[in-house]
Amino acid sequence: MYTLNFDTAEFISKYWQQKPIVIKNAFKAFEDPISADELAGLAMEEDISSRIVKTETDDWKVIQGPFEDYDEHGDDKWQLLVQAVNHWYPESQPLVEAFRFLPDWRFDDLMVSFATPQGGIGPHIDNYDVFLIQGEGERRWKVGHNGEHQCRGGDPSSPLVDDFEPIIDVVLSKGDMLYIPPGYPHCGETLSLAMSYSIGFRAPSQQELLTELADSLIDNSAGQHRFTSSEEAASHGLVSQTQQQGIMDLLAQLATDPAQYQTMLGKLLSQNRFELDINPFEAPISTTDVKEAIEDGANMQRIGGLKVLSLEADTQVQLYINGEVVCAAGIEQDIIAEIANNHLLTQSQLQNWLNDQQVMTVLTQLINQGWYYFSE
Ligand code: SIN
Ligand code: CO
Repeated sequence: MYTLNFDTAEFISKYWQQKPIVIKNAFKAFEDPISADELAGLAMEEDISSRIVKTETDDWKVIQGPFEDYDEHGDDKWQLLVQAVNHWYPESQPLVEAFRFLPDWRFDDLMVSFATPQGGIGPHIDNYDVFLIQGEGERRWKVGHNGEHQCRGGDPSSPLVDDFEPIIDVVLSKGDMLYIPPGYPHCGETLSLAMSYSIGFRAPSQQELLTELADSLIDNSAGQHRFTSSEEAASHGLVSQTQQQGIMDLLAQLATDPAQYQTMLGKLLSQNRFELDINPFEAPISTTDVKEAIEDGANMQRIGGLKVLSLEADTQVQLYINGEVVCAAGIEQDIIAEIANNHLLTQSQLQNWLNDQQVMTVLTQLINQGWYYFSE
């Protein structure tokens, strides 16, 4: 339904994580997957992350959701932004699917915005890759170079940056797309009532990696090695360069042995920044119930935004789902790949696995956790 109208392999080699690009007509005959009213409805929900940004004279004021009504904001100079719409609004999933030419672990969320004329969030820099797709209406986008940029007004707490010299200055209309890698300042200004879609991709920072690693070492009482040496410097108050390096090598050891880092990495990369629409079964069902449902013709559908990952050359047979480990011992690699790769497990796939007890146990777990549900 949403088919990208450009060569994705060429895009990856020339632009992805390198430089911004405008792609006019990235989607032919683009249809908005959600209406402004439906978006406004989502932003009334407690569990859904939303905000309104109001354009003031040379400033942008943020009001966090949820919202009860929108009348007070008037006809212009404001924008509503709703995060992780793909978690709550299944009809938006086909748009996200178009970007699965990039791996699931990198995908962050689909943010949808409704903007009134002159609405925008101000000049800023993101630490993620973003594809901005224009739906209804028109918005003008400026993108600057990725050098040093000052916090707006010299205020280090401001998420905004000072005005910049644009290297891209473009008006996006329905179906057009702007790709911006991390570090490039950008600013959108709304020309007419507009819907836009931000598909974000992120990779973990060193800080996130180390935090997850520390948590996993504590949970498993691992990482107890200490530095040892047979030569010591004569100088009382000096830590030698060799010893500095030797101590830091303890950290490097944790990062070179896959058995030490894989589970931690799988858990980290399968986490979501935003709430998921999880409804665990109150009374868990059995593998027999799951088999019966499959025999009665059910498919199994993953909830929106759920990450189901496997690691190449994993030292353990595992799936990583929503920051948790699911043991897949005894399950063939191609079945693990089918589960990780497909949002929908179809009747024909499920029928093939009916007699595989290990697979049925995993599928039962997926249902009982509220990560998957039976669909027609
Ligand atoms: C916007 O739609 O104005 C915000 C999206 C972004 O700048 O990343
Ligand atoms: Co941005």
